[in-house]
Amino acid sequence: MKIPFFNTNQLEESFHYPEDNTPEHVAIIMDGNGRWAENQGLPRAAGHQEGVSTIVKIVKTAIKSKVKVLTLYAFSTENWKRPRHEIDFILKLPKEFLSIYLPELIAQNVRIDAIGDMNALPFFTREAIQHAIERTGDNDGLQLNFALNYGSRHEILNAMKTMIGDINKGKLSLDELNEQQFSGYLYTAGVKDPDLLIRTGGEKRLSNFLLWQLAYTEFWFTDVLWPDFSEKEFLHALEKYRQRERRYGGILK
Ligand code: IPE
Ligand code: IPE
Ligand code: MG
Repeated sequence: MKIPFFNTNQLEESFHYPEDNTPEHVAIIMDGNGRWAENQGLPRAAGHQEGVSTIVKIVKTAIKSKVKVLTLYAFSTENWKRPRHEIDFILKLPKEFLSIYLPELIAQNVRIDAIGDMNALPFFTREAIQHAIERTGDNDGLQLNFALNYGSRHEILNAMKTMIGDINKGKLSLDELNEQQFSGYLYTAGVKDPDLLIRTGGEKRLSNFLLWQLAYTEFWFTDVLWPDFSEKEFLHALEKYRQRERRYGGILK
């Protein structure tokens, strides 16, 4: 495996990273690893491994572009339907990724977080993520959220259960309940909704990702498979976002 270095100095110093109207929160459905591998006659695992290199490149570019929050869909609640050996391989990657890159992420002032049901993950995956969350908790640069064992319907249902519990305990008033309070029960509590959603790999669907949070998000779909997704394509998606007109149901003044 080639291990890309994380050093942001490697980026083109001459390149101007536009700062105006950059999406603050970018969410990515990193899809196409399996097909990338199959296209080359390799086992699907090779695609997941290569996908990690893309994560490093995109995190680096997000930092340079002054994106504030990057949420990466790494494993869904539906991905448990895959063969055991593929699941095991995918769930080993967070630990491997963090054991290589955590020091550099700390040096880059990145704050790591996770969304999803961590309890069902293997101990070593949970431990690695938990350690990274604790070690980077005081950083105030890019917030890097990994969606692991994440499913939006599961998230919304759990939020409902906790919220109803709070209503029954008298902590929350049903009459006064508003959207902002409900958002506070989701894994993404306190995080701005994504401005831009990118899905690689050609599919035009959300696959149970951030259904509540994406209500007014701009979407960018590309056929490029995640292991082939490059800095250039990420910058292109940011540029396309800049050209969008967000009206939120209103009209332009
Ligand atoms: C995305 O790539 C990674 C995960 C879902 C974990 P896929 O593994 O879904 O790749 P394709 O879509 O089969 O090519
Ligand atoms: C979505 O990709 C989940 C992740 C990228 C983690 P999938 O490959 O699981 O989605 P479907 O099955 O094509 O909808
Ligand atoms: Mg897929």
